[in-house]
Amino acid sequence: MRAVDLIQKKRRGGELSGDEIRHFVAGCVDGSIRDYQTAAWLMAICCQGMTFAETVELTRAMAESGASADPGELAAWAVDKHSTGGVGDKTTLVVAPLVAAAGVPVAKMSGRGLGFSGGTLDKLESIPGLRVDLSAAEFQRVLATAGLVISGQTAGLAPADAKLYALRDVTATVDCLPLIASSIMSKKIAGGARRMVLDVKVGSGAFMKTLDEAAALAQTMVAMGEHLDRQVVAVVSDMSQPLGRAVGNALEVQEALDTLRGDGPPDLWELSLTLGSYLLALAGVVSEPAAARSRLTALRDSGAALERFAAMVAAQRGDRRVVDEPALLPRAALVDSVASPHTGYVATIDAEVVGRAVAELGAGRAKKGDPIDHTVGVVLHARVGDRLAAGEPLLTIHARAADDWHRARDRLLSAYMWSETPAPQPPLVHRVLGA
Ligand code: URA
Repeated sequence: MRAVDLIQKKRRGGELSGDEIRHFVAGCVDGSIRDYQTAAWLMAICCQGMTFAETVELTRAMAESGASADPGELAAWAVDKHSTGGVGDKTTLVVAPLVAAAGVPVAKMSGRGLGFSGGTLDKLESIPGLRVDLSAAEFQRVLATAGLVISGQTAGLAPADAKLYALRDVTATVDCLPLIASSIMSKKIAGGARRMVLDVKVGSGAFMKTLDEAAALAQTMVAMGEHLDRQVVAVVSDMSQPLGRAVGNALEVQEALDTLRGDGPPDLWELSLTLGSYLLALAGVVSEPAAARSRLTALRDSGAALERFAAMVAAQRGDRRVVDEPALLPRAALVDSVASPHTGYVATIDAEVVGRAVAELGAGRAKKGDPIDHTVGVVLHARVGDRLAAGEPLLTIHARAADDWHRARDRLLSAYMWSETPAPQPPLVHRVLGA
């Protein structure tokens, strides 16, 4: 089998067999298929799509691309949560410790920033010393010690996704239903979780821009769950503006810690409660998701969830003092605010524009493997529907240098539309599938 023939077949709209897909995935992991051919194959998939059967085969091949790790008893009981990617989406950092504090182990394999969207691994790495490249044995050990583990793919676990993910990030092949579905589901399977809640984002800051596209992705992943004997709930949630106020790695860690302390933005807390409630229901801790809300709130208020977060940081070799002293997080050299140019109501904030501006500040990658800057980003002081007077602070930019700050300011101001009358607030959750 030659890679070029498989690229050609897909480019012409053919359906690849399981053997062909496994051959390609194995070749891209062992290096016998070069990155340029893999990139061409990914582009052909983006342009031609994949059938459900192909998507399932791709998921299986990616999940089995590493040493097949025995998930262990604990991981098999654990729950998992994953987002399809958004701007300012730090819900994992809130939901995972909350659910772990409720006594349900959370074993999570996360990703890095992708395109204009941030990634949990990049966010976590803003914590000095914290490791996200855990081996399968370390993954189990952290889960057993802290009741919570968040790691990336390693040589042991779904390395094909790490490879494809990094190539997609820099070849404009991210927003493609079968590639997103297989990327997410392969990580879930390799991590061993049997029950998971998927947060499928929709809107300007998501890869799926319309409700129909997001619902199709959610439906595909729920169906894949049935096929692969996994319980999957998909929550289609709003990404028509950034989630919370902070966008940028260290800034988002700080906001997640504030939220675990009861001091975070209401939308972030509400979405975390919703996702956490479905996770507790899947784990059988409550009979109805609604019954979990007061319990999760109590775990936040007692400090138990924050304590879980600290235990995970310590078990992954990070500096746990960050949890009580966020000032230990790295901070950008230049921090300055931008005043509102208008008096009026914020009508829309284009989240993709915000995500791209933050990536350009240095929080994202232009080429595979580029280093990122954990300190840079933006804090938004107004949400859709808020009224501001001209001159009031609209946002604060954290940048490395004045040139970057000015470029980001111009871009970010272009993300806003204004109105003289109050704009309707978009719903936070559009629909739930598989519940
Ligand atoms: N999250 C993933 O893990 N993969 C994607 O492709 C998109 C979001």
